[in-house]
Amino acid sequence: MRTYDGSAGDVDYGTISPLYASYRRPDERIAHVIAEALGGARTVLNVGAGTGSYESAAHTITAVEPSLAMRAQRPAELATAIDAVAEGLPFAEGQFDAAMTLFSVHQWSDVEAGLREMRRVTRGPVAILTCDPARVRDFWLYEYAPDVLDTEARRYPPLDQLTAALGGSTTIQSVPIPLDCTDGFNEAYYGRPEMLLDPAARQACSAWSFVDDRARQDFDTSLRRALGSGAWDEAFGHLRGRPSYNGSLVLLRANP
Ligand SMILES: C[S@@+](CC[C@H](N)C(=O)[O-])C[C@H]1O[C@@H](n2cnc3c(N)ncnc32)[C@H](O)[C@@H]1O
Repeated sequence: MRTYDGSAGDVDYGTISPLYASYRRPDERIAHVIAEALGGARTVLNVGAGTGSYESAAHTITAVEPSLAMRAQRPAELATAIDAVAEGLPFAEGQFDAAMTLFSVHQWSDVEAGLREMRRVTRGPVAILTCDPARVRDFWLYEYAPDVLDTEARRYPPLDQLTAALGGSTTIQSVPIPLDCTDGFNEAYYGRPEMLLDPAARQACSAWSFVDDRARQDFDTSLRRALGSGAWDEAFGHLRGRPSYNGSLVLLRANP
């Protein structure tokens, strides 16, 4: 199923993407972790490439992105993205040195088929940046927006499903999230709760599009109240000064 915009996953980026690139700017420290996983690759496939976050000039990138709205927001200096989906990649066997898919697998209609395709077209490592569904609810946001994180826990594929689909040998590492992380996914605001009161910041995280206006309003009211009364700071204020946070964000690196 593709939407009018071409979106192929469980989210219509034609609706939610207008501010994506301003709130989801690649973070250089996370970029470093991804670059290490890609090793010395020259040609790199980026699946679910979106607006081009984490595509490095050090690689020759081929980007695949089904959403027209996302493709249209890619900076001019990046490769034009190909309109295709993970589940059917239009490339030859072993065409790329390495491949990556970042913040994307939880949206695919058939994650196993998509990863088999990535493995098929890649000679070397396949890197997946995703969240561990077993850890999603550990974040303080669960106290204020349980529906949002329940949705996330349901959407993210279990890590053993990802490793089984890729075959070969896989390493999994927890990715530290810096306090001033520029890529605005929910946990990026672990020490800056006020940021999540900005509706546009929330819109840049697709999970919020799965709950209705009423749930968003309830969240806004309860977090504002907790910040105003000091209850949030009493429980979680230590996070305001913590330089990095290990939450549910993980990087998988699968070798054939
Ligand atoms: C949260 S965005 C991440 C974009 C980019 N990788 C980043 O890190 O900013 C998820 C992307 O996955 C894409 N996507 C969803 N389903 C897909 C599929 N079946 N095949 C390829 N890409 C897909 C969406 O269109 C969207 O651009």
